[in-house]
Amino acid sequence: MASKIARPLLALVATPVLAALLVGAGTHGGAATPGAPGAGDPYFPDSGNGGIHVVHYGLDLDYTPTTKNLAATADLTVTATRKLSSFNLDLSGLTVDSVRIDGRRAAFSRAGNELTVTPSRALDKGRRFHVVVTYSGVPAHVYDPDGSPDGWIIQPDDSVFVASEPQGAMTWFPSNSHPSDKSTYDVEVTVPDGWTAVSNGRLRDRRSRGGKTTFAWRESQPMAAYLATASIGRFQTEQYTTRSGLPVYNAVVPSQAAAAKPVLDQLPAVIEFESRLFGRYPFDAAGSIVHDAPDVGYALETQTRPIYDRAPRLDTLVHETAHQWFGDSVTLTKWQDIWLNEGFATYAEWLWDAEHGGPSTAQRFAADYALPETDALWSFPAGDPGDGGHIFGKPPYARGAMVLEKLRQTVGDRDFFAILRAWASEHRYGHADSAGFIALSKHISGKNLDAMFATWLYGSGKPATP
Ligand code: ARG
Ligand code: ZN
Repeated sequence: MASKIARPLLALVATPVLAALLVGAGTHGGAATPGAPGAGDPYFPDSGNGGIHVVHYGLDLDYTPTTKNLAATADLTVTATRKLSSFNLDLSGLTVDSVRIDGRRAAFSRAGNELTVTPSRALDKGRRFHVVVTYSGVPAHVYDPDGSPDGWIIQPDDSVFVASEPQGAMTWFPSNSHPSDKSTYDVEVTVPDGWTAVSNGRLRDRRSRGGKTTFAWRESQPMAAYLATASIGRFQTEQYTTRSGLPVYNAVVPSQAAAAKPVLDQLPAVIEFESRLFGRYPFDAAGSIVHDAPDVGYALETQTRPIYDRAPRLDTLVHETAHQWFGDSVTLTKWQDIWLNEGFATYAEWLWDAEHGGPSTAQRFAADYALPETDALWSFPAGDPGDGGHIFGKPPYARGAMVLEKLRQTVGDRDFFAILRAWASEHRYGHADSAGFIALSKHISGKNLDAMFATWLYGSGKPATP
C-alpha cells in the first residue's frame, strides 16, 4: 500500500521540475496530520504505519550474547506519502535513547508497540528524510495469536534465532512492519570473536577489532521487514558459488552439521529445479541458517537465506526456497492472502516429489481430498483464514496447494505453468493479492474460473466433489 504510492513519487522526483511541483503540492496541500499507527490490515491492525514508506534500513547492531544486551542504531531512509505532523514506527520493548530526523533531535513517545516521532516541523508529502533511532536493551520475542514465538528468540545456549513472521521485526528494530512496505537493507552486526552473525543478501565485509567481529550484510532487493534476520550463533560456515554464479553462504550450528549437510548440498539443484518452473531466481545470494532450536517449531523463508530450527528435511528446504519467488519477491498486500505464500510453497514440494519418484500432484490432491470432513484441512477457507491466529493453520498450506492443482487440472499444464511464471515476473520485487491471481489465471487461460476459486479457495468445508 504505502510503497505503491511511494514508488511513482520516487520516479517523479528524478526530474527536477516535477520534484519542485511535488514539494509545492506538499507545502500548499493542506494541513499536516499524524501518520496512522497501523497499515490497515484487519489481521494485525497495529503492524506497519500509515503515511510513510521506508526506502532503506541501515541497521547497526552490537550484541553481547552473555548479557543478551543489544546496543543499536537504526538509520531509516523514509519518504512521507502525505504531509505529516508526526509518524509512527513499530517497536516492542527496548529503550530508545534518541531520535534524529536529518540530524536534528526529534521528540518521541512510546505506547504499546508504537514509537511516535514528532519532528520540529511538518514533513511535506514526497519528502525524503533520514530517521536515526538509537536504542538498547535485552530484546524479548513476542507470541503470535497462534501461540508461536516470533522475533528475536534467545536460545538457552545464548545463540539467537531471528525470524519475524508476521510481527516480530519490532522486537529488534524500529520498523514499518507490514509486508505492504518493502525496503533494501544494510545490516551490520558486531559480536564477540567466536560468534557469527548472519543476515540477508551478500556478506560485504567482515572485520575484527578489540575482541569483536563485525559482519556487514547487504540485501539489495526490496524486502518485507518480517523477512529480515540477524541470527547469531557459534556457526560453522560454508561459502561457494553455484554453477550459475550465485554466491551461497550457509551457517550451521555444529550439533546439526552432519544431519544438515546432505540436505543443504541439494540447494543448488533445488534452485535450478524451481527456476525452470517459476522463472529466474529473484535474488543475488542464497544460503541457509541452521539452528538447534526445536522449541521454535518452524522454519522461515528469510530472504535469500531461510532459517531452520533444526537440520531441515529436503521437503522443507524445497518449501522455503520456493518462498523466494512466492512471498519474498512477490509479496502479500494483506495477511489474509497468506495462501499465496504457503499454498504455492507447498505445491512446490508436490512438484519436487512428483519429479523425484514420489506421488504425482494429482495423487497428492486425491489423498488430501480423501481426508474426512472433520479434518483441519476443511476447517476454514484457504483464502479467508478469518484472523491472525489462523494464518499458519492447515488450509492456507495444504488446501492452498489443492487450489493450484485444481487450477492446473482446469486450464492444463501449459497455461498453468505460464500463469505461475507470469505471476512471478509481473510482480517481481513487488506486491500482489488473491484478486490479482484470479484475474491473471482467467486472462492467460481464457476460462471463467470464478466457480472453481469460489469453491476451492473461498468455500467453507469439504467440496462435494473433488
Ligand atoms: N512461513 C513459514 C513457513 O515456511 C512459517 C512461519 C511460521 N511462523 C510463526 N510465527 N508461526 O511455512
Ligand atoms: Zn511456508
